[in-house]
Amino acid sequence: MSEQTQSERLFEQARSSMAGGVSHESRYAAPYPKYIARAQGAHKWDADGNEYVDYAMGSASMLLGHAHPDIVTALSEQAANGVFFADCHEKEVEWSGLIQKLVPSAERVRFVGSGTEATMLAIRIGRAYSGKDKILRFEGHYHGWHEFVDLGMKAPYDKPSSLGILPGTVDATVVAPPDADWVEAALKRDGDIGTIICEVSGANYGSVPLPPGFLKELRRLADEHNAVLIFDEVITGFRWSPGGLQARDGIIPDLTSMAKIVTGGMPGGAVGGRAEFMALLDPSHEFKGRRPGVTHKGTFNGNALVAASGAAALTKISTGEPNRLADAAASKLRDGLRGIIEQHQVAGAVYGEASTFHMYFGEGVADGSVAGLGAEQIRGVDPAVVNGLRGGLRKRGVDLMSYMGGVTSIAHSDADIDKTLGAFEDTLQDLISDDLIGRV
Ligand SMILES: Cc1ncc(COP(=O)(O)O)c(C=O)c1O
Repeated sequence: MSEQTQSERLFEQARSSMAGGVSHESRYAAPYPKYIARAQGAHKWDADGNEYVDYAMGSASMLLGHAHPDIVTALSEQAANGVFFADCHEKEVEWSGLIQKLVPSAERVRFVGSGTEATMLAIRIGRAYSGKDKILRFEGHYHGWHEFVDLGMKAPYDKPSSLGILPGTVDATVVAPPDADWVEAALKRDGDIGTIICEVSGANYGSVPLPPGFLKELRRLADEHNAVLIFDEVITGFRWSPGGLQARDGIIPDLTSMAKIVTGGMPGGAVGGRAEFMALLDPSHEFKGRRPGVTHKGTFNGNALVAASGAAALTKISTGEPNRLADAAASKLRDGLRGIIEQHQVAGAVYGEASTFHMYFGEGVADGSVAGLGAEQIRGVDPAVVNGLRGGLRKRGVDLMSYMGGVTSIAHSDADIDKTLGAFEDTLQDLISDDLIGRV
C-alpha cells in the first residue's frame, strides 16, 4: 500500500472537524486538495514539500507577491501595538486617503469585512438612493456569495445557484447578457430597476471579456434611466491600473466595490463612491427622513491590522511600479503560451488584460482572440481538458487560479515564466497525445 501524503492525511482529519473539510467550497478537490505550508514571492510550498510557481496568488490579492517585506513589517509593527480596538484610529484615515487618491469614484470610503460585504453594502446604497428594488446584473459575473447576487452567478441564469435563497431576492434580480441593447430594452421595460452592478473585467476576472465600449454604454444607460451604477473592482481595483479600470479608462461609476489588493491580501474590503451616494452612510446626514439613510455595521471593519497592511500595499502601488512589473510578467507569459499553442498548431487562444492571463481551447477563435465567442463556448471547454491542463501543470510545479488562467505579481521572474512555459508545453503534448485537444 502506498504511503499517505501529508495533504491526504490533513484532509482526512479536516473532514472530521470542518464541513466538507474546507473553508471555501471551491477549495474542495477530490480525492483531496493540496495543503499549503508557506508562500514567499511568487512561490508556495505544500505540506509535502512540493514547490509551485503560484498564479492564484491568494485569489488575486497578492499583487506584491506573498510575504512582501513592506506588508510583513506593517503587520508586525501593528500587531505589537494591538490589532483591533473597536475605536477609530489613524491607520484607517491614512488607508482611506490612499484609496481616495487612487480611485476616481472614491470621494468617500467605507471599510467592510470582505468583497462579498462590499457588493452587499453597495447594492443596499443603490436601492436606498434610487428607491427602486430591482438590480440588474450580468450573466456569470461574480460578486460574492450573498443573497442579493446569487441569481445569475452561474448557469442556468434563471435559477438560484443555492438552496435557501429567498424568492423575493430572485424576483428583484434581472440577469442580463453583456449586451447594451438588451440592457437598454430592460431599463425601458422595467421601471423598477434602480441599480446596475458589473464585474468590470467581464465574468470570472476577464475569462469572458466584455464587448468593446460596453462600460461606457452602461454609464450612459445608468444616467439616462436614473440607475445607480456599481463597478465591482474587487479584481480590477489596483490591478488594471493603480486606480483600477475606472482610472485607466476614465469611466466613473457611482459606487465601487473593492477587496483583495486593497487590503494588501488581508481579509476585508471597501466601498468607495461619490460623496452624494456615500452620504447615505453618514450618521450626521438625513436621507428620506432617516439618519443615516443606510445602516451599516461590522465589528472588524477597518481594523488596525488590515488597515496597516492595506496602507502599506497602496503606498507601494501608488508609485505605479508594481503594476508595470506584474503587467510585464503577464505579457511575457501570454506571449510565450500563445507561441507554444501556435507552434503545436492547437485550436485555441491566450488572452487577458493587465496582470492576468486566460487560455481557451476549441474552435471559433479569430486572430487569436475569443472576442467572437459567447460565454457558453468560452466556459464550456471539455472538463477533461480543463482538469488535464490544471493537473498537468500542477504536477510540474505550476498552480493556476480558477479555470484556465491566473494572475501574476511583481515577484514573477523570467525564470518563473520559463519554468511555466516548459511545464505548459509538456502538458499540452500530453493533452494532444491523449486526443483531448484538437489541431487547427
Ligand atoms: C469580482 C468579485 N467580486 C466580489 C468577490 C467576493 O469577494 P470575497 O471573496 O472577499 O467575499 C470576488 C471574489 O473573488 C470577486 O472576484
